[in-house]
Amino acid sequence: MRLFIDTANVKEVRDAVRWGVVAGATTNPKILSAEGSRFDLRDRILEIAELVQGPVSVEVISEQRDEMLDEARTYASWHQNVLVKVPMTLEGMGVVRELESTGVPTNVTVVMTATQAILASLAGASYLSIFYGRISDLGTDPAPVIRETADLVHANTRTQIIVGSIRNLIDITRSFLAGADILTVPYEFLKQMAHHPKTVETIQEFNSAWAKARGEVPLRERTLVGPR
Ligand code: E4P
Repeated sequence: MRLFIDTANVKEVRDAVRWGVVAGATTNPKILSAEGSRFDLRDRILEIAELVQGPVSVEVISEQRDEMLDEARTYASWHQNVLVKVPMTLEGMGVVRELESTGVPTNVTVVMTATQAILASLAGASYLSIFYGRISDLGTDPAPVIRETADLVHANTRTQIIVGSIRNLIDITRSFLAGADILTVPYEFLKQMAHHPKTVETIQEFNSAWAKARGEVPLRERTLVGPR
């Protein structure tokens, strides 16, 4: 069970690393576009790779075999932690086979069905990414897709299952229970995972009791009134 952060934002990656819970990062062309156009892609990926010290997915945009291979090799040459995302197409599967046979790890992305996952796995992908939210958009329950994929892939190949496209906290728990190896989660969801109003209330209650017993101003109140 591992968590990646689904972002290309350096501050978000830095926070998540500080919180000690993420083992990698995933980007895609849309996530990178959300960062604007005034940054150098290589510099940004290197910065993220140095921070997370784990796989950082970068997706090829080309659609033809030779161009995909060139693009993938360029990304892989930037840093040992770069994981090349190849979209789920038949042409892409040949690219995955070629890259993996030359030591370039791949992550087959935009997987919506167990049959697509079978192809990705048989092509030799190190990882495949199932898109939970986008499967739900069509009225299909993603949990059986993950479960069937996990049963088949874990029994027969070394491919690891990432689940992304998270829309609700419950998607995270259900994906792990269904057999996902890794969940890639946007920053806001990482924060939500930690939050519960009863947790906040209880911490305050305990610390106030301690401060009161010692005749001290509770920490929270001290922060509100400022230094004395
Ligand atoms: C996963 O690797 C993708 O980057 C991501 O989770 C896609 O999510 P979306 O459906 O929110 O675009």
